[in-house]
Amino acid sequence: MSKKVFVKSYGCQMNVLDAERMVDTLVPKGYVATGRAEDADLILLNTCHIREKATEKTFHELGRLRALKQERPDLKIGVTGCVAQAEGAEIMRRMPLVDLVVGPQSYFRLPELVDQAELGLRPVDTEFPAEDKFDRLPKRHAAPGPAAFVTIQEGCDKFCAFCVVPYTRGNEVSRLASKVRAEVEDLVERGVREVTLLGQNVNAYRDGAGVTLAALIRDLARVDGLKRIRYTTSHPNDMDDDLIAAHGDVEKLMPQLHLPVQSGSDRVLKAMNRKHTRADYLAVIARLRAARPDLVFSSDFIAGFPGETDRDFAQTLELIDAVGFGAAFSFKYSARPGTPAAEREVLPDAVADERLQVLQAKIAHHQYATQASMIGREVNVLIERTGRSAGQMTGKSDHLYPVAVSGPDIAIGDLLKVRITASHANSLSGEIIG
Ligand code: 5AD
Ligand code: SF4
Repeated sequence: MSKKVFVKSYGCQMNVLDAERMVDTLVPKGYVATGRAEDADLILLNTCHIREKATEKTFHELGRLRALKQERPDLKIGVTGCVAQAEGAEIMRRMPLVDLVVGPQSYFRLPELVDQAELGLRPVDTEFPAEDKFDRLPKRHAAPGPAAFVTIQEGCDKFCAFCVVPYTRGNEVSRLASKVRAEVEDLVERGVREVTLLGQNVNAYRDGAGVTLAALIRDLARVDGLKRIRYTTSHPNDMDDDLIAAHGDVEKLMPQLHLPVQSGSDRVLKAMNRKHTRADYLAVIARLRAARPDLVFSSDFIAGFPGETDRDFAQTLELIDAVGFGAAFSFKYSARPGTPAAEREVLPDAVADERLQVLQAKIAHHQYATQASMIGREVNVLIERTGRSAGQMTGKSDHLYPVAVSGPDIAIGDLLKVRITASHANSLSGEIIG
């Protein structure tokens, strides 16, 4: 009889993909994935450490699982991901119900760790092995949809003063382009039409043979049957000339780019150790727009960074107006243990809360404006799933907006020409042309 594994993932897209790959490692052991924790023989919490709230979710969820574990002492519980990496030993000490801990770089070892957990050994593996974890992972098992993620780079060498990523994901490592290409070709053979290349600092990609992200994108664009390429997340300083040029001359590279800036104030950018100024960022945006005028940008912002004044914050709002982001994420600053900024005095909560609200309203204004500008335009939509109402299907536009369309005979995986007819809170709708 097969055993069941339930994986709950928090945080970024890379974590979602890691969760899927964790299940892949357990398939040869006879595990199948289940969507219900109650049915599982093994529960893995694939955790995120980026902000305090994300980390707290791990401990709340473990609290909730206590009853289930009491009912079924055979149930094994594992903590994986970035909280595991950062606080593995601590979790084992504080949480007797946890049977195993494994970090993001070592989860290819899950089958042996599960064996050890079954013997009651409570293994903790938070190594950064020298080998490429992807070489140790089995082939992707789950049937991919039409749009798939592919990790090409992990870790970060930038050390922004607020960020745990260099500690949880380690330093920058890039997979060999030839291996990425082989994975993409395999996915395309299985029906994938769009790939998003993932990395914590993806545009710093440079493989052992010196292949850059731009070169990799140009190579992948030659894969027959692959229709769309995206990449995320990028740092402004790593947008090199060739990558900017690729946005103009690689047709399959989609006109949407997530390029976090965090703040519009030079003083705050310096305190954040971002290593770029507001002017540097705006210059990169201008060069990208010159290469590809219809590029839609998104960004991340932090409200209430230590030392941020009203004037600094006003400069962030001005920068948002200057760029006109099509979407953005904004977060209240959260002090993270072990980061340089954690030593600094935080702003009063009320100030940070208020700034976050103002930031969100500003971002929403630009998102609505950008979405509204799509009305009447012809866009391409890759259909990914069935929609809310009967006959409705939804997919993503070139600019990454969700678009709902209706009509007979629309299939998942279709790439349709659509005229946008309406804009809603976080999506668009349109009609199929022809
Ligand atoms: N507090 C608030 N937001 C943070 N981010 C990263 N670290 C922190 C922190 N300590 C945000 C940044 C980053 C995004 C993934 O999360 O904006 O780009
Ligand atoms: Fe969270 Fe960052 Fe880890 Fe992703 S890499 S799970 S965002 S801490």
